[in-house]
Amino acid sequence: MNKISMAKILLALSGVIDLVSNTVVSHHKKVSYLTYQIAKEMNLNEKDLKNLVMAALIHDIGVFYIRDVNIHDFTFDDPKNSHAYIGYYLLNEADLLRDIAPIIKYHHTDWNRYAGSLPSEYNVLHLADQLAFLSEEYDIYNDSDKIARIIEDGSGSIFWPEAVEALLGLLSREYIALDLKSATAINRVQDKAILEFDDLVEIDKILDISKIISYIIDFRSPFTVTHSIGVGIVAKELSKLMGFSEEDQVIMEIAGYLHDLGKLAVAPEILNKTGKLSQDEWKKMRAHSYYTYQVLDYIDELPHLKEWAAYHHEKLDGTGYPFHLGANDLSTGSRIMTVADIFTAISEDRPYCKGMSKKEIIDLFREQVKDNKIDGEIVELLLENFHHINGLRKKIQLRSKEYYQNFRMFALSETG
Ligand SMILES: [Fe+2]
Ligand SMILES: [Fe+2]
Ligand SMILES: [Fe+2]
Repeated sequence: MNKISMAKILLALSGVIDLVSNTVVSHHKKVSYLTYQIAKEMNLNEKDLKNLVMAALIHDIGVFYIRDVNIHDFTFDDPKNSHAYIGYYLLNEADLLRDIAPIIKYHHTDWNRYAGSLPSEYNVLHLADQLAFLSEEYDIYNDSDKIARIIEDGSGSIFWPEAVEALLGLLSREYIALDLKSATAINRVQDKAILEFDDLVEIDKILDISKIISYIIDFRSPFTVTHSIGVGIVAKELSKLMGFSEEDQVIMEIAGYLHDLGKLAVAPEILNKTGKLSQDEWKKMRAHSYYTYQVLDYIDELPHLKEWAAYHHEKLDGTGYPFHLGANDLSTGSRIMTVADIFTAISEDRPYCKGMSKKEIIDLFREQVKDNKIDGEIVELLLENFHHINGLRKKIQLRSKEYYQNFRMFALSETG
């Protein structure tokens, strides 16, 4: 089986979180850059360095569930670190993220609250995060003394003294401030740094991670809490029936979980609107599959992944969006995804709206095939195996709903 770069997965994910909380552009890369510089300056061992930098790349992942996100709210004295706990809750589910989950959990916790009970290294992320905020608030190049004093004041209470010392050493070198003022510099330096200690991981481990991402996509709206999980399982099953290799079946499943990834860039007011969307809102909504494509483009080991995931609103007659592709450009994988998406959307129950009956589903599909919108062979395959595929979809969506209810209870207890 193919192996995939873990670093690229996290880089892609970090770009996604910036989409959700667009109050700060490239916040995650900036924090990851600072974490890396501080950890290097302190000569931390390679394992700690790696875990810290990886954690930094996605540290605010829990903000997806917080309404009215403004990343600037999460500064010094804010006792609300619910987004940190929510991030931990989800990431702890995946083998490959289990080491970084606790670092994320404590990224807003003062050092003196856990000194002695947890590794002090965790605090490097907290320090880097706060410096990133200060670098937005002040002119990091001209006011670096002022920033240094603020950080120093927190030494021994908010921050681990050894990390503060390392940071002050760094701030005395101008290039750090100059890097921080340039998004291009941060991107270049950090892309290189991350790939330096990259791991290649098996596709089925990525499956774990993409399932978590599907929760993040779906849980933002009560209308879709189990949608992507359903699409993933239906797409996988159809690809199996179409004779895809085992590896390609897994990629189809991942693509299904991630097909609506770009919805993270769509505001919750739009996702949750029950009435008709205005033209402007509709335009924003339609952009989601474009963002899915952009984010997955990072993972070049799997060139099909982005096409299978992101072309799900394209139509055979060229009337889809956002690329306006036609029959010649749409591979079997992309055609399967479109059918899986439509099938799941119309058959699943949503709040205030029951799923369609089998007859209604058949009529709708046959109509779309007749109009040359979607692939007739795949539709027939689905209808021939209706009972089996629909049963699988129901089972997995039911399980996923239970997970959501537990998650929601947890999140409510954290956010009050
Ligand atoms: Fe945070
Ligand atoms: Fe942050
Ligand atoms: Fe979509």
